[in-house]
Amino acid sequence: MFAGKGGVGKTTCAAATALHCASLGEEALVVSTDPTPSLSHIFEVKEKQKPVRVAEGLYLAELGIDEVKQMWDEKFGREVYEVFSAFVSVPYEQFADFITSILPGLRDEFTVDYIRRLANEKRYGRIVWDTAPLGQTLGLLETPAMLSQHLKPAPRIYSRLKLSTKTRRSVLDIIKGWESLSAEDMYFLRNSVRFVMVTIPEALAVEQLESIVAEFAKFGFKVKQLIINNVIMDSSSEFLLTKAQQQRQYIELLHDRYHYMEIFELPMFPHEIKGVERLKDIEKSLFE
Ligand SMILES: Nc1ncnc2c1ncn2[C@@H]1O[C@H](COP(=O)(O)OP(=O)(O)OP(=O)(O)O)[C@@H](O)[C@H]1O
Ligand SMILES: [Mg+2]
Repeated sequence: MFAGKGGVGKTTCAAATALHCASLGEEALVVSTDPTPSLSHIFEVKEKQKPVRVAEGLYLAELGIDEVKQMWDEKFGREVYEVFSAFVSVPYEQFADFITSILPGLRDEFTVDYIRRLANEKRYGRIVWDTAPLGQTLGLLETPAMLSQHLKPAPRIYSRLKLSTKTRRSVLDIIKGWESLSAEDMYFLRNSVRFVMVTIPEALAVEQLESIVAEFAKFGFKVKQLIINNVIMDSSSEFLLTKAQQQRQYIELLHDRYHYMEIFELPMFPHEIKGVERLKDIEKSLFE
């Protein structure tokens, strides 16, 4: 899982990593759970089918709001609707739209669950997960803990509700289902996911990195790798030299602060990274 502040190069690094895995002969899937994904732009594909093959042994999938809604619908949608429709009268479609788009935590929960199920299927040798910028990612981590907190008083309330016979499971069973979903997803994040942080050598990014690493640690997720992206290696002009010198202090600070991590410095290229050929430059820098 590639995480970090907005615009630091998460998607670029995820795409290059997936390309590398595929070149080693692993069937790789690169999947984006960013609501405004850019993976398909990087790989220059237009097809909507998911997943789509983008290179030899490499597949791409973007998880949008529609897929999350569908997962919600399959797992809990109808039954939760039964519960809510005891209080309010709203058509199911509207209810599902509301739940899945307005409650960001729920979206994140299903996102993690989607990745977990993909991993369990073992159809791919490697799943490279490109996430949304910092804000959303933190929400994602908060969700399972939050869900179980809020569900604690729920059984007392829900057990009094009278439901129609259409509900297959009891309300308590639905809540238990939520709880075990959260627990499984947290277990998956703790034990099966390798977190890679991406940052750039600038004050704001370095500061935000500290809070996200702390947040990850709080949940028991250990970050072992850090990519410092956009490092200026060229000092052929005064402008570049000044910029490079300024970056150096942050790079040193990062090495110092995260000495227990494996740290990669990724140069800033003079062109934007678009298309497989350009991605190979990133791959080379990261893996050689
Ligand atoms: N090492 C690099 N050299 C030159 N350009 C780069 C480099 N890394 C990333 N870029 C460019 O920076 C831009 C942002 O990169 P990218 O989309 O990977 O960031 P992100 O962290 O995924 O952003 P978001 O938070 O919006 O998802 C892109 O235009 C990309 O081509
Ligand atoms: Mg991105």
